[in-house]
Amino acid sequence: MSRAKFVAGNWKMNVLLEPAVNALTELGKLTADATAEVVVCPTYVYLQAAVRATQGTKVSIGAQDAFWMASGAFTSRISAEMLKDLGVQYCIVGHSETRGKFGKLEVPSNTVSYFAETDETVNLKIGALLKNGIVPILCVGETAAERDAEETDQVIQSQLELGLSGFTAGQLAPLVVAYEPVWAIGTGNTCDAAEAGRVCGMIRSCLSDLFGESFASGCRVLYGGSVKASNAAELFAQPDIDGGLVGGASIDPNEFARIVHSA
Ligand code: PGA
Repeated sequence: MSRAKFVAGNWKMNVLLEPAVNALTELGKLTADATAEVVVCPTYVYLQAAVRATQGTKVSIGAQDAFWMASGAFTSRISAEMLKDLGVQYCIVGHSETRGKFGKLEVPSNTVSYFAETDETVNLKIGALLKNGIVPILCVGETAAERDAEETDQVIQSQLELGLSGFTAGQLAPLVVAYEPVWAIGTGNTCDAAEAGRVCGMIRSCLSDLFGESFASGCRVLYGGSVKASNAAELFAQPDIDGGLVGGASIDPNEFARIVHSA
């Protein structure tokens, strides 16, 4: 099955309002003839401006996280209903910067991760997003210690099984999965393309075991972790890599557009 390529930018807690709107406007022009799906995930507070700035372009807007309850006394949280209300179409879930110190994933010391995300909360968030017609971009990946202990495949299989438990293939049809080795995020240490391709293939075969061959062959699996314009083409040429989730290199519209065009 041929899968449309997909490139998403995660701006994390970077870029203020005016440069964000300018970058999105520029990106809209630079990607007008792109064949890949293009998504940018700015911080919550600029989502509304971002949706406006990209109207009529190929660029769609995603959030970086969502809370699973629809409404209520949850100070500081943002629901999937609220994101839908703003016209947000995608949402990252289970990023290693939100899987927390109180959760199951140990994170590098340079990553402040106090958000306590676990596979169980990831699962609840996916349910809330799907209910609201928002496409979840589920991040999975191993730490350096887990890779050294040769636990990579097992860690990712468990993240997929628990994060996606209780859903049917039909419910998960729009799902996008991103393989993000924690040690490659924001470090400049991109995973070797062949190895990234192997892990994305392993993810697809795990999805096939869980939800069937037809689901797995249609599901977009991305690679994320120090993707740049200079290494994107080699990564995206791997048969099981359908695009990228890009952090640092997504902020500059010229660099990000080059990545989009290499998909
Ligand atoms: P990076 O981040 O591209 O800056 O390594 C990727 C991510 O966190 O999704």
